Amino acid sequence: MLKLRNILCCSLAIGTLAHSHELQYGLSPAIEQPLGLTEANLASSPLFSLHRDLVNIESISNNEHSVGVFLESYFRAHDYTVERQYINSLESKKGNARFNILAYPGSERQTSVLLTSHIDTVPPFYAYKLHGKDDIWGRGSVDAKACVAAQFVALQELLASESISPNDASLLFVVGEENGGEGMRAVNDLGMKWDTVVFGEPTELKLASGHKGILIFELIAHGKAGHSGYPWLGKSANHILISALAALQILELPSSEKYGNTTLNIGSMNGGVAANVIAETAVAKIGIRLAADDPNDVKELVLKAVKGVDEDIEVVFYGGSYGPVDIDHDVEGFETITVNYGTDIPNLSGEHKRYLFGPGNILVAHSDHEHLKARDLLSAVEGYKRLVQVALKSW
Ligand SMILES: *[C@@H]1O[C@H](CO)[C@@H](O)[C@H](O)[C@H]1NC(C)=O
Ligand SMILES: *[C@@H]1O[C@H](CO)[C@@H](O)[C@H](O)[C@H]1NC(C)=O
Repeated sequence: MLKLRNILCCSLAIGTLAHSHELQYGLSPAIEQPLGLTEANLASSPLFSLHRDLVNIESISNNEHSVGVFLESYFRAHDYTVERQYINSLESKKGNARFNILAYPGSERQTSVLLTSHIDTVPPFYAYKLHGKDDIWGRGSVDAKACVAAQFVALQELLASESISPNDASLLFVVGEENGGEGMRAVNDLGMKWDTVVFGEPTELKLASGHKGILIFELIAHGKAGHSGYPWLGKSANHILISALAALQILELPSSEKYGNTTLNIGSMNGGVAANVIAETAVAKIGIRLAADDPNDVKELVLKAVKGVDEDIEVVFYGGSYGPVDIDHDVEGFETITVNYGTDIPNLSGEHKRYLFGPGNILVAHSDHEHLKARDLLSAVEGYKRLVQVALKSW
């Protein structure tokens, strides 16, 4: 049984809604009551207005320029030193350049703790909208602009209460997380290293103890075209692809107690040109979420199953596959969770301690009904403050 520490939240970010309450991460809902959020009163809250402004700037992967410019001037206005990191040298010359943002409140660029999340979203864009008194809707309202806003406000509150010093912690917000992780991979070129990195992704205010790995590949079936009335004169790429996919669906994939089953998604299929033509080529794209094992072992299983069906099917594995990722979760008072999505965690090299935490539920995150409980945003601020303090051993 965990010994719980009550967290007394005193400096609530929302002015007119200020109230104090106790938080116990995950073990009971952090804040029970709706906040009574309105267009009028949220403007007076740095947390809620920053979150609203971020959600209202469209930043679908590859189009993060505007949100980057916005955050850069926002942090500068709060006396942070801000650096842009263009993800490649060509970017800096473009009008709509994409860049990561490193922001630090003190004189030191290299801090012990880093709070980080991503500023890109999946498509399509949905503008910010309040529903009722406590629901905030919009693209990125959960994934991951809630984390961005809460991490900044957490750092501000820790500094204001002098719980940490300005050179203890900094912020890093990256592009391209939803689209291969190139933003975070570029961070490896900064030559920096942190003792602790707190990653922001929706974990329902729980501390993630790990996430599944991933393996993505294409099957390309090569056939021989011909008139459909004489199938024996050709070879249907569609027919062999279907058999190969059927073999993959019954393939036994590794499982583990911690992460459950490895799952397979046949995400897209394309093949042939017309009903009366034997298909010459057919392609399927497949994603496997790994619950155990090295991705190389699973590649072997896939190859064996596919080649067992037909030698004329090519298997092209995408780069960046990885096995399940274990994450530090040794902090009292948080409930833990494992998640099935990928994160930027494996893209950042280094020996740092790593935590994964954030408000909101991944199940709505990429949907047309992405939304967040306003009170969860407040709880996230408290969660990040606690993680930073635990990391600095000042809790
Ligand atoms: C894993 O798969 C097995 C067999 O299909 C199933 O019985 C079990 O419920 C699954 N476990 C989880 C955690 O989904
Ligand atoms: C980097 O992160 C992205 C986004 O989560 C992921 O798709 C990709 O596989 C990761 N790459 C590596 C090398 O870990």
